[in-house]
Amino acid sequence: MKNRLSRIIKPKDGRTVMLAVDHGYFMGPTTGLEQLDKMVLPLLPHADTLMLTRGALRNYIPADTDVPIVLRVSGGTSILNDELLHEGITVSMEDAVRLNVAGVAFSIMVGAKYERDTLLAFTEVVDEAQSLGIPVIAVTAVGKDMARDAKYMALASRIAVELGANIVKTYYVDGFEKVVESCPVPVVIAGGKKTDEITALTTAYNAIQAGAVGVDMGRNIFQAHDPVAMIQAINAIVHGNQKPDEAYQMLNRSQNARYSRR
Ligand code: R5P
Repeated sequence: MKNRLSRIIKPKDGRTVMLAVDHGYFMGPTTGLEQLDKMVLPLLPHADTLMLTRGALRNYIPADTDVPIVLRVSGGTSILNDELLHEGITVSMEDAVRLNVAGVAFSIMVGAKYERDTLLAFTEVVDEAQSLGIPVIAVTAVGKDMARDAKYMALASRIAVELGANIVKTYYVDGFEKVVESCPVPVVIAGGKKTDEITALTTAYNAIQAGAVGVDMGRNIFQAHDPVAMIQAINAIVHGNQKPDEAYQMLNRSQNARYSRR
C-alpha cells in the first residue's frame, strides 16, 4: 500500500500532478481526447500519474509506458441519462492487479438520490483493494443542482475517508482549508470545466496553499491552447511552488517558443 501510494504522491515533496483523461467513461469522445494517445503521450513526462479507464489504457497506452496508473473503476451511466449520478463498480480488482495499477478511483455521490448505492459500492471496492494493498481514491462527484461549498465538500470528503478512502479527490471552493483540515488523508482537486489558463493556474495554487497535495486535472490541461505548456505550468505550481503569475509567464514563454519553432 505504502509503495503504491508513493508512486502516486511523490515522496520528494509529498505532492502530485495527476493527469485525468478518464472522461470517456461517461462523456464518450471528449474534446481533446478523440485520439487519446496523440494527446496524452506528449504530456506524460510532466505527469506523476495517469488516471483513465481500462479500455483507454489497453487501447491507447503502450504497455512499456512508465507512468503509474490510477484506474477508474466506477461508471455505468452517461451524460445522456438523467440519472448520471448512479455509478457502480465497472472493474474487478483482479483486472486492476493484472493491469498493474498504482491505485483505483471510484466516484461517490453524497447527497444525491443514489447516495446509498454509490457509498456501499465504494466500500466493496475498498474491501477488495485493501486486501490487495491497492489505494482507493474517492472522487466526490457533485450534481448540477447541488451546492458547491466548503461545508458540502468537507462533508463528502470526510464520509469518503470514514468509509476507507486513501486519497480524496474533490473540487476547490472558497474556504478550502476547512475541507483539508477535517480530511485526514491527502486531498487532490479536480480541474472542472475548461476555464482560461490563469484561472486554472490560480485555482491549483490556491488549493496547494490551502493544503491540497496536488491536482487530478483533465480538461484544463488537454483542452488548453498548448496542453504541454499548460501541464508544465501546473507542475511548476505543484512541485516548484511557483505563483500563478510566474507559472503563467512560463506558460506563455514555452508556448511562444514551441510555436515559433513550427
Ligand atoms: C470526473 O469525475 C472525472 O473523473 C475527471 O477525471 C475529473 O473530473 C477531473 O477532470 P477535470 O479536471 O476535467 O474535471
